[in-house]
Amino acid sequence: MSPRFDPSRGCVLVVDDEASVRYVILRVLEDLGVRAVEASTAAEARAAAQVERFACALIDKNLIGESGLELLRWLRAEQPACLAVVMTAYGNLESSIEALRLGAWDYLLKPFDLDGLTHRIGRALEQHQLAEDHERLQGSVRQSDRLISLGTLAAGIVHELNNPLTYVLANLEYLHRELPRATAEVQEAQRAGDALGARLQRLTQVLTETRDGAERMRQLVRDVRTFARPDEDAQRSVDVRAALEATLKMASLHLRQRAQLERDYEDVPPVRGSEAKLGQLLLNLLVNAAQAIPPGNPLEHKVRVRLARAPGERVVIEVQDTGCGIAPEHLPRLFQPFFTTKPAGQGTGLGLSICKSIVDELGGSLQVSSSVGQGTTFRVELPGLSAAAPQKRESVVVMDRSTRRGRVLVADDDEAVGTALARLLEREHDVEAVTRGQQVLAAVEAGERYDAIVLDLQMPDLTGMDVFARLQQVAPEQAERVLFVTADTFSQGVQAFTERHADRVLEKPHHAQSLKRLLRAVVG
Ligand SMILES: Nc1ncnc2c1ncn2[C@@H]1O[C@H](COP(=O)(O)OP(=O)(O)OP(=O)(O)O)[C@@H](O)[C@H]1O
Ligand SMILES: [Mg+2]
Repeated sequence: MSPRFDPSRGCVLVVDDEASVRYVILRVLEDLGVRAVEASTAAEARAAAQVERFACALIDKNLIGESGLELLRWLRAEQPACLAVVMTAYGNLESSIEALRLGAWDYLLKPFDLDGLTHRIGRALEQHQLAEDHERLQGSVRQSDRLISLGTLAAGIVHELNNPLTYVLANLEYLHRELPRATAEVQEAQRAGDALGARLQRLTQVLTETRDGAERMRQLVRDVRTFARPDEDAQRSVDVRAALEATLKMASLHLRQRAQLERDYEDVPPVRGSEAKLGQLLLNLLVNAAQAIPPGNPLEHKVRVRLARAPGERVVIEVQDTGCGIAPEHLPRLFQPFFTTKPAGQGTGLGLSICKSIVDELGGSLQVSSSVGQGTTFRVELPGLSAAAPQKRESVVVMDRSTRRGRVLVADDDEAVGTALARLLEREHDVEAVTRGQQVLAAVEAGERYDAIVLDLQMPDLTGMDVFARLQQVAPEQAERVLFVTADTFSQGVQAFTERHADRVLEKPHHAQSLKRLLRAVVG
């Protein structure tokens, strides 16, 4: 079998004091399309090895001056990845063995025939490339490993952040409503209260800013969650625009220093797949676009993201940059694993091959057009879910209208969440808070009736799902009035459940207004 190697990778060093031998070998290398450097002495070879790393070296054993075996010994120490082939005179088996002992990869007996030489060089280059790829693969496996643990860590942090954020936001919302009223009352009550009133107003201002900060954290948590979700269930309906926006936020640091971002969005249907994978696809394209633009001149460059519909309910996502462009000879290799033009440590060359596999999985296509010096456009086309496609959901009709005061039961094992929600909702509803699922069942079984029951999905004794299942049996009309809140959309069981009940699920930390709106719909 003939060796398979990429001639553009790696350079060969040819060391022989006979010009005619060097000439023959260089012709062979030229025919193979392999770059070569020639040297007639060991000193010249050493000088060349100081400036270039070689994939393979052909060394004549009998050099004038320093022997080829000395050079071999030096080269093995200097460039261990370089595969050395020592050329010895026919019949001199001893020195061939000596060469192998010193670390030569192979030997060639002179005079050699061209086929043998070509084959030997091919095999050496193939071997070298395999070793290089192996090294890189190990590097990227280490890197993905690190990313996976980082992802797990992020998921954990997000999870832990959710509960405190939920009640920080609810409390802020409450204070934000109450403080201005107290301020007005103080000012009305007495003139002397003016100074106090002004101070309270400043406090309200501080509070507003704090609430905005917490709200930004909530959005960040939501975005990180998009990426940290496991992918076993690749069958969600994914809002492409939301995934794109979340990804843009992740890439914004990269982008800001290099280019101005332009959005051009049409309304597009959702696609079927995994939000995390779609995010990964978009992130790879955006990071590549950013990396194609040198930092420092953000006003001179653009990264344009476009969302559009294409015939047949297809969704088009384009990422266009005004970066360096891609050389035409690189285009055919772009999606091959490990193809990169970036310096070691900056690119593994896996990004686009991953993009390609994600697009294939989603049943779409990925195209590139580029012109050197002008920029590059990556175009993703994915099959959209038609609007008519049936959604398997048990839904609650959500109507936003003024509502009667309801009796609401909140069950959350984090007591602070319950108390904060009770306070937040006190103006609209009468709220009772409990910390265990068992308490909800006990109350309902004892004949208590609620206009809405807000269940945390993860409670230690009975989960929200368990309580709901029991309610469906013992008091179906109460089960109809259940809303779920969850901090964990990672685990499989919870994911499947929240998919089925998407219209009544709120992810923690939720926005006060979303909770109020859902409650209005359920209380009626
Ligand atoms: N928008 C772009 N503009 C110019 N060149 C690009 C662009 N996107 C990709 N390329 C070229 O394609 C090569 C492969 O891209 P790919 O994303 O697969 O790997 P990478 O970016 O080099 O490394 P990484 O594994 O970190 O993504 C890049 O090294 C670069 O030469
Ligand atoms: Mg990349």
